[in-house]
Amino acid sequence: MKEWKRTHTCGELRPAHVGQTVRLNGWVHRIRDLGGLVFVDLRDRTGLVQVVFDPAIDAELHRRAGDLRVEYCVAIAGEVRRRRPGAENPKLATGEIEVFAHALHVFSPSKTPPFPINEENLQVDEMVRLKYRYLDLRRPAMYARLELRHRVVKFIRDFLSERGFLEVETPILIKSTPEGARDYLVPSRLYPGKFYALPQSPQQLKQLLMVAGVERYFQIARCFRDEDPRADRQPEFTQLDLEMSFVERDDILNLIEELYIGIVEQCSSKRVIKPFPRLTYDEAIARYGTDKPDLRFGMELCDLTDALRETQFQAFRNVIESGGIVKAIAIPGCAGYSRREIEELTEFVKRFGAKGLATMALTEEGIRSPIAKFLSEDELQAILARTNAQTGDLIAIVADTPRVVHEALGRLRQRMGIQLKLADPNLMAFAWVIDFPLFEWDEAEGRWNSTHHPFTAPHEEDIPLLDTDPSKVRAQCYDLVCNGNELASGSIRIHRRDLQDKVFKLLGYTDAEIQERFGHLLEAFEYGPPPHGGIAPGIDRTVMLLTDDETIRNVIAFPKNTAMVDVMFGAPSPVSEEQLRELHIRIVLDEDDAERHGARED
Ligand code: AMO
Ligand code: AMP
Repeated sequence: MKEWKRTHTCGELRPAHVGQTVRLNGWVHRIRDLGGLVFVDLRDRTGLVQVVFDPAIDAELHRRAGDLRVEYCVAIAGEVRRRRPGAENPKLATGEIEVFAHALHVFSPSKTPPFPINEENLQVDEMVRLKYRYLDLRRPAMYARLELRHRVVKFIRDFLSERGFLEVETPILIKSTPEGARDYLVPSRLYPGKFYALPQSPQQLKQLLMVAGVERYFQIARCFRDEDPRADRQPEFTQLDLEMSFVERDDILNLIEELYIGIVEQCSSKRVIKPFPRLTYDEAIARYGTDKPDLRFGMELCDLTDALRETQFQAFRNVIESGGIVKAIAIPGCAGYSRREIEELTEFVKRFGAKGLATMALTEEGIRSPIAKFLSEDELQAILARTNAQTGDLIAIVADTPRVVHEALGRLRQRMGIQLKLADPNLMAFAWVIDFPLFEWDEAEGRWNSTHHPFTAPHEEDIPLLDTDPSKVRAQCYDLVCNGNELASGSIRIHRRDLQDKVFKLLGYTDAEIQERFGHLLEAFEYGPPPHGGIAPGIDRTVMLLTDDETIRNVIAFPKNTAMVDVMFGAPSPVSEEQLRELHIRIVLDEDDAERHGARED
């Protein structure tokens, strides 16, 4: 076959092409030798088409086709014909036609792949998929993810460019930028004993761009954080990093809301609720037990504390008397839960610190509850009224400190919502969570931490509280949440040097530390900084929500595994003595490290 370059892609052929001679390039997706005819499903990134090798056309060619195996990379030439009636495949876009081959060229053969490329519901260990990621990405479902991600990023770039934003690249080799995780460090060859840090985000750089007068900046920015592994986290990930000058909070919220509605409506078939509801942090915690509520279903937490102040049930009364609270959720349709099922729910909430789970099942025959006998009629009625529970529901009650009650019931709500399939899988339920506290008290360290980061501005009217009660200071920050995930965080920033100084001091930095770590930013703030603010949505998480994936690894071309290892390249890996010498680095392993390290290597 002299001419092998494609005239058409596999996925584009339709009845309109019938009668044409076409050349196709791609991979053998499936092969069926039906004695008389050899059928090859040929695949390229646009789709599949059925190719037929007929001995009546060319006996030698038919014999060679019989030697093909899956994943051989080939070119074929042939004539497009309409399939005979009854042989159409409605599941395939090209299912009305097939290509009768008259030439075949094998670019390269393939070993049998370690897992099938041609099965839609692949059941194979993720480690194997990651090791052979280039084969995993050949699967149409994975290619579709790459393609969706591309469309989302392109939509973002177009949307922001149309609104006067400038995409600016910021450095990867820089100095520590605190976002609450550990830094990845890069040793300097030229400056022995000194290190660059990879940015946890371009936070300070984008603020410096505002001082520089850029006014509207964005970047599809890679961020690096040495964090403990979780399904929705990677050590490197991508943010849409954005910053604006001369704006107030709502300018940013409105812009991002319009952007996300556009992303969902233009790039997916999912539905959004408009406008996005706004909840204060306190409201989110009170109603959903979490600052990233899943609003695809109700099952809100209700407060029973007032109604149970005088109760004879000691477990509740003791909690209330010592300043705790009692809250409940009504779990729909679970009144029939067995003792064992309720025991399992109890174990679940205990994982989050609850001491127990009191339940009331609203059955057709009446209320079934281990605590009903301790409650007065008024108390029972109050519980039913406040939870608005219906016959068939199971009321679940936790009494404890507010922190434990919210964590336990918030988790139980989320779990039951998913388990009972209360969430419409086609819905993207966004919400803004605003007015977080500026600081959190760190019990272990005995000091204040920033809830968001140290550059976040307090509410103007709360500034005096910095001196009297830092716990009450509300931050001008906001999270975008969706279906129970945090998608983005941002804030209006401090742009006054004295206020920034004050916040650093409250966070426990000494003058020398402030100078050493943030001197460059504070100095910049002495040259007419504009009021500014911004936000950073996670791109990986955004795409993951659109694809309904349970891990962000599925929407990243070459992710690290759950142990933060790149199993294809084998990174991290040892380096040569010479490289270490050049970098003035000596490896010192203590016994534990050596043991773990040894264990990992085999
Ligand atoms: P923050 O640290 O909240 O804010 O990060 C913003 C968003 O980035 C995503 N994200 C991650 N995605 C995958 N893996 C990770 N390890 C990971 N960590 C964070 C999340 C998160 O909501 N500079 C500030 C933003 C600002 O104030 O403008 C920042 O980085 O979707
Ligand atoms: P007890 O009196 O400890 O046997 O508890 C009776 C019921 O109340 C059991 O179902 C416990 O799980 C539940 N319970 C006990 N303490 C709490 C609590 N702090 N919050 C919610 N339920 C509780």
